[in-house]
Amino acid sequence: MNGKVAYAAVFCLLAAFPMAALAQPQVVPLPRPVLPGEPPPTLPSGPLPWTDKSLPADARADLVQAYITRDEELTLVRGYFGVNYPWTAKIYPEAIRNVLPGSAGYVPGIPRLGIPALSESDASLGVANGRHMRPGDQAVALPSSLLTAATWNGGLAYAGGAMIGAEARNKGFNVMLAGGINLAREPRGGRTFEYLGEDPLLAGIMAGEAIRGTQDLDIISTIKHFAVNDQETGRMTISANLSDAAMRESDLLAFEIAVERGDPGAVMCSYNRINNVYGCENDYLLNKVLKGDWGYKGFVLSDWGAVHSTVEAANNGLDQESSFSSDRQDFFGEALAQAVAAGTIPEARLRDMVHRILRTMFVKGLIDHPIFKQPIDVKTDLNVAQRDAEEGIVLLKNAQDLLPLSLVKRPSRRITIIGGYADLGVISGSGSSQVIPIGNTPSLEILAGGAVWMGPDQTPQIPAGTIILNPPSPYAAIRGLAPWARVVHYDGSNIAKAVALARISDVVIVFAQQWTSEGWDSPDLSLPGNQDELIDAVAGANRRTVVVLQTGGPVLMPWLDKVGAVLEAWYPGNRGANAIARILFGAVNPSGRLPITFPQSESQLPRPVIPGHEQAYSRIPLEGTRSPFDIDYVEGANVGYKWFKAKKLTPLFPFGFGLSYTSFDFGGLRAAGGTTLSVSFEMRNTGKRPGKATAQVYATTPGGVARLIGWSKLDLKPGETRRVALTADPRLLATFDSGANQWRMAEGDYAVTLGESSAEVSASATAHITASTIKP
Ligand code: NOJ
Repeated sequence: MNGKVAYAAVFCLLAAFPMAALAQPQVVPLPRPVLPGEPPPTLPSGPLPWTDKSLPADARADLVQAYITRDEELTLVRGYFGVNYPWTAKIYPEAIRNVLPGSAGYVPGIPRLGIPALSESDASLGVANGRHMRPGDQAVALPSSLLTAATWNGGLAYAGGAMIGAEARNKGFNVMLAGGINLAREPRGGRTFEYLGEDPLLAGIMAGEAIRGTQDLDIISTIKHFAVNDQETGRMTISANLSDAAMRESDLLAFEIAVERGDPGAVMCSYNRINNVYGCENDYLLNKVLKGDWGYKGFVLSDWGAVHSTVEAANNGLDQESSFSSDRQDFFGEALAQAVAAGTIPEARLRDMVHRILRTMFVKGLIDHPIFKQPIDVKTDLNVAQRDAEEGIVLLKNAQDLLPLSLVKRPSRRITIIGGYADLGVISGSGSSQVIPIGNTPSLEILAGGAVWMGPDQTPQIPAGTIILNPPSPYAAIRGLAPWARVVHYDGSNIAKAVALARISDVVIVFAQQWTSEGWDSPDLSLPGNQDELIDAVAGANRRTVVVLQTGGPVLMPWLDKVGAVLEAWYPGNRGANAIARILFGAVNPSGRLPITFPQSESQLPRPVIPGHEQAYSRIPLEGTRSPFDIDYVEGANVGYKWFKAKKLTPLFPFGFGLSYTSFDFGGLRAAGGTTLSVSFEMRNTGKRPGKATAQVYATTPGGVARLIGWSKLDLKPGETRRVALTADPRLLATFDSGANQWRMAEGDYAVTLGESSAEVSASATAHITASTIKP
């Protein structure tokens, strides 16, 4: 992202937030600060006292704070954009310009006290390098986060996080701007690919594991974007409106589970307003929920350009302004110093901000395990990306066992691959998370208003951008696995020619794409350009047509009845082509399950048209040029499949769905109640091939809709049966009582179902739950 973001329409709501109503900041009892003009205190001789690793992190931070000066404190709470662009010459001191890491952000350290700088990189899918900020620097690109969610395998999320952590250390970064977990309220969302789907338990566990993986490498990971930043359209001005109870049971529950599991060192507050108050000056979210109810001890940093005030932001919970030059003003520079001097920001609050940053640096190992640059382990890291892709690609249809191709009775002698980029690579989503992958990286320039797909470019009207393709190409990967076959590729630009090729082929594989990006949402759920028409025509000519989708999220499939098989490959990353080919030919048995509902049409969504859409595809896509507007999230906590259940709608493919080359049977369900729900059940492979089954357990509260309360993913040999036991997190059975500020479980009989998806019931039971309450 360019640090020079235009913020024409910035609306200050400060008057609506009287100081008296603010929660009291945590007070850290420390000696009085060393004020400007006073000499820095003399350091003790010998090792600095806070280097003693046996001391608790709080004590170590306190010791640093006993010697820190006010100027040094102010250094830690204000960051720079991390790239040395021509415009930074006008704003940044030369000393800073010389050390910027070529990434999203940089916060200078305090060498006098041995406190390192914070070198921040975006890292949702790998160590990002959008717009080639570090020319020539490549990193392994993991699949999209939505694909990782589709693995339903926390171990893979952890491995991906650890891979990112290792590469980050070796590239000189110690803060990963990762952990995207905004719930998919808007399946057309431009960043749906960067998030973890629509369910708070699945998203929370996967995010928590990824964060744990990264931080186990002794660096910090954020979680972001706090909160309800669930669409891109108008993201900087929108007010996301929903009740405290609904938020706690949905978007905030996802964060809460991930924070408990992953303990991220920092939380990134979001661009949008939540119930009319900006995320980065939101007392309710930052002070009350995060630092109060959840007891969070890390620090809150702002999204780039998300700060709108000094006093309100600091007092309402923001601890560090990221990239101050992306904000409308330098809010945490001189203005902060003056506010502290004037007492409008209490002295203790600044000490708390600094304490949180220092404490986190000690807890997460930044001070005890400094980073240094060295080569990354490309081979190991590519394998992590491939394993992730192999488990997250979802088989949606497989008529007459067309797949795997190696097993069909009629050998696949002539394989025709159709699709614009299948000869080049697999696509990736764009925005700040963009990784420049390992290998020869083809890229495609998309002009403003142009279609992603060649052909008549009526739709969609999307902003300009660059699609980065991840090598290797599917064409090369398929050829490698099918040496007996004649494999040809055609880009699909002429439908009649594609049809003619399909007629003479044993198998046709159509690669269809939907490119999505941070900054704008897709106008609808259709594949862009003429891809639907192409698939329809090709499948009409040859029923042995396999469609491989590379999409940011769900898409419509008007041709579904005609095609033989469909694989949802999302954005499959730096070894995505290999994973696709291995699934097509049966070297891997697909085991991905949808982390998001695929609707039959936009009319099934809570908002058939994206709010603010009339401003979304203008030729000037900058967020700041849009007028503020509200979204009332009428579905409340019923996001995704819960909405479909509440409205009795049948989706195209339900949440949790996915096929395998073998078959499974789940049964023997036993459910016990009490203060929570405990279940056990059997999972059996009834087919002829080994495969991974994902048994899902849903519980329905009295008067509520079914919620995912747990799952088990197991690798089973043919004929193998295993019994599994799960206990529900009681919050998943409760509703949030805002008046009493607690979770409340209602007494009653709770229906429990066990199934292969949110729509399939293999076994059911009921359990009696006793009334109880839980503190948040
Ligand atoms: C804006 C994005 O919303 C955020 O996710 C990212 O970390 C920052 N820019 C820094 O690039």
